[in-house]
Amino acid sequence: MKITERIRYVGVNDSQKQLFEGVWPLPFGISYNSYLIVDQKIALIDTIEIGFEEEYLRKISKEIGNRSIDYLIVNHAEPDHASLISLIMNIYPGILIVAAPKAVPILKGFYGLTEDDILTVRDGDRLSLGTVELTFLHTPMVHWPETMMTWSGSEQTLFSGDAFGAFGALNTGISDTTFKCGCPPGEHSHYSANGFHNGNADAFSMYTNEMIRYYSNIMGKYGSALQAAFKRISHLNINRICSTHGPIWEKQAVRVIDLYDRLSRYEAENGVCISYGSMYGHTAEAARSLAQELSSMNIPVALHDLSTENVSTSLRDIFRYNTLVLGSPTYNGGIFPPVEAFLHAISARMLKGRNFIAFGSYAWAPASVRLMNEYAATHGFNLLHPGISFPQAYSPEKCDMKTLAEAIRTALK
Ligand code: FEO
Repeated sequence: MKITERIRYVGVNDSQKQLFEGVWPLPFGISYNSYLIVDQKIALIDTIEIGFEEEYLRKISKEIGNRSIDYLIVNHAEPDHASLISLIMNIYPGILIVAAPKAVPILKGFYGLTEDDILTVRDGDRLSLGTVELTFLHTPMVHWPETMMTWSGSEQTLFSGDAFGAFGALNTGISDTTFKCGCPPGEHSHYSANGFHNGNADAFSMYTNEMIRYYSNIMGKYGSALQAAFKRISHLNINRICSTHGPIWEKQAVRVIDLYDRLSRYEAENGVCISYGSMYGHTAEAARSLAQELSSMNIPVALHDLSTENVSTSLRDIFRYNTLVLGSPTYNGGIFPPVEAFLHAISARMLKGRNFIAFGSYAWAPASVRLMNEYAATHGFNLLHPGISFPQAYSPEKCDMKTLAEAIRTALK
């Protein structure tokens, strides 16, 4: 598929995988993006996940016919992008694998490559394909230590690896310039990579939710590495971003860069993520009551049941919103396990600068709210209220959510 005369898309969509990395749900699928640069010499940029070999080889062959591929540039050696390296080497013997030095042990260990197979490149090294010259920019820990980006000045295109990626298959267009939402005119109930949306949605709007969820789940720990990468690419005149997941960004590249910049600074918008676990429905009832109070104040709110939902969506919304309200019953004298798992996931991402309130029920001895407050204090969160710990069944008298909602409204003014 032609992106420009010289850049071709040969990636695939995966609508079968249930859990990305064995952890993160994929309700709208995912794309594994791979690109060819067709010049006097031919370079392939990253491969794809295993399981799509026939489709992948057919796409490559359609673009280059019987020509050979000279270079396989490995921006990222994680298996969702590098699993087909050995296959490509078998089909295109003589191909040189181009990667950062830190990729070498990973390429050897996962895919059986030897050092003779690999041309290591330093930060700033260049490679000419004829007309197109590629520059390799080391961007460690975006998302693994070996990660780099590849820049083509003549095409004004950044092959960015996982950065600027999104969950969601590319069912209705590869690039944001050719994107079609797929809805008949006036149809407003199309289920997309962004949930239900208006039929006139653009690609950025359609993928925003899945981009934030992807960032928070996969990249969230590496905000400082992203910021370092931003400095590394700040001098480039980027007209096109070719990431390894999600759409190619052209028209809306600036918005995507801005969103990733804000996320990697841990900046958030006004709003509340209420995430709770519940054993017998009382903490859940309190959570719903707070959500209703906040909604009536026109404060954006997301409500997540950690007992039944993967932590993925709670992570998305705590990266999106500046206020976290956690609900947990006291369980075995501690925090309810699904809520504890969420706190662990937050710690792993070094999330900071959020407002915080806790609440929850207990049967005979309260502990969860005290422990959640201690967590908030040691993680630099801003406690808006001491929280509410209520005995046994929920009632508005025992757990006054109007007071908590008022504390939040005051803080968000
Ligand atoms: Fe899409 Fe870090 O791999």
